[in-house]
Amino acid sequence: MVQTKGLEGVVATTSSVSSIIDDVLTYRGYNVDDLTDSAQFEEVIYLLWFNKLPTSQQLAEFKSELIENVYLPIELLNIIEKLSKENTHPMSILMNCVSALAIYDEETNQMSEGANYRKSLRLQGKLASIVAAYSRIREGKQPLIPKEDLSFAGNILYMLNGEIPDKISEKAFNKALILHADHELNASTFTARVCVATLSDMYSGITAALGALKGPLHGGANESVMKMLAEINDITQVDSYLHKAFENKEKIMGFGHRVYKTGDPRAKHLREMSRQLAKVTGEEKWYYMSLAIEKIVTNEKGLLPNVDFYSASVYHSLGIQHDLFTPIFAISRVSGWIAHILEQYENNRLIRPRAEYVGLKNQTFIPIQERD
Ligand code: ACO
Repeated sequence: MVQTKGLEGVVATTSSVSSIIDDVLTYRGYNVDDLTDSAQFEEVIYLLWFNKLPTSQQLAEFKSELIENVYLPIELLNIIEKLSKENTHPMSILMNCVSALAIYDEETNQMSEGANYRKSLRLQGKLASIVAAYSRIREGKQPLIPKEDLSFAGNILYMLNGEIPDKISEKAFNKALILHADHELNASTFTARVCVATLSDMYSGITAALGALKGPLHGGANESVMKMLAEINDITQVDSYLHKAFENKEKIMGFGHRVYKTGDPRAKHLREMSRQLAKVTGEEKWYYMSLAIEKIVTNEKGLLPNVDFYSASVYHSLGIQHDLFTPIFAISRVSGWIAHILEQYENNRLIRPRAEYVGLKNQTFIPIQERD
């Protein structure tokens, strides 16, 4: 049996959702650079789910379907209210809430194309509302309902911060959502596919994916980057902080990637957004500290920033609370998870690899009363 640690280099499935070939990321054959520069996040969701870009009319209909699905059942708002009193990470709240949504959806276990589409809309719409509602309820504020004239990106910022975002922030957040939407067979997407390949339901698949995304080696890295920036706090401390971390063989969050060898193509967009937003907020230190960190880590360790590194300073500039960074990643990535789940259902086979056994063999059973 061939065995690769962390399944490195293993091709586990075929997929037509997104690809990383020669360090170029595409969604359904479109270069992510072009989508980031020109598309709306809603167009990208449509592209991922329907394998084609929408016409203006299709996009308008899709947007109104999405907005109809952002409302949360009252039972879930009550759950969020209760959970907001616990000192729990928002990713755990999100996992609990998505799992609970299954209870309030009569179609949870229905597998028809129509039911799966309706559940896709519900999941895409409601994840954002859960994060925004939790963020406001824990501060003793009322959750806000979205505004019909705002984009999906604009509405998330509005529902989080309680203010209509300025155009630069809305545009930047739209780009960030596009950049996080899908990424081939990353850990959380693989988790979602493994889960639904047992013919489990979409809520289970997304809950499982959220669990995988939460870890600091994956989506949790953006929050860890912000923690590092806050700990360093001053550009004059970057050098000593990093050299101490290198000495202790600590990982520098937001750097390195399993697949990219010449750099993560998403990082350059986020770096530029971080620069622009820092100018808008006037709080430029996080951007300059990030640049200084990148220079040292790249020169001395040969590691390049990944999607999570500059998204930390971008989200901070957008006024997003630091423990919501990974849930914000999830609000976008759920679009890709859904596309992969639908693809898995279409051509399903149980995912069940083997393990090479390295444990003890030929043990003799000793009755409990005779054991030392
Ligand atoms: N800081 C310091 N050293 C690193 C880093 C880093 N960020 N990343 C890799 N290395 C080193 C490792 O210590 C290891 O060195 P060694 O061979 O001397 O032991 C070598 O590079 C290979 O690293 P692995 O962890 O084996 O690489 P792998 O492909 O398994 O992991 C990963 C990729 C998890 C992204 C890794 O680079 C990492 O931990 N980065 C920090 C966390 C992070 O930013 N995660 C987000 C990734 S993007 C995303 O999921 C959205």
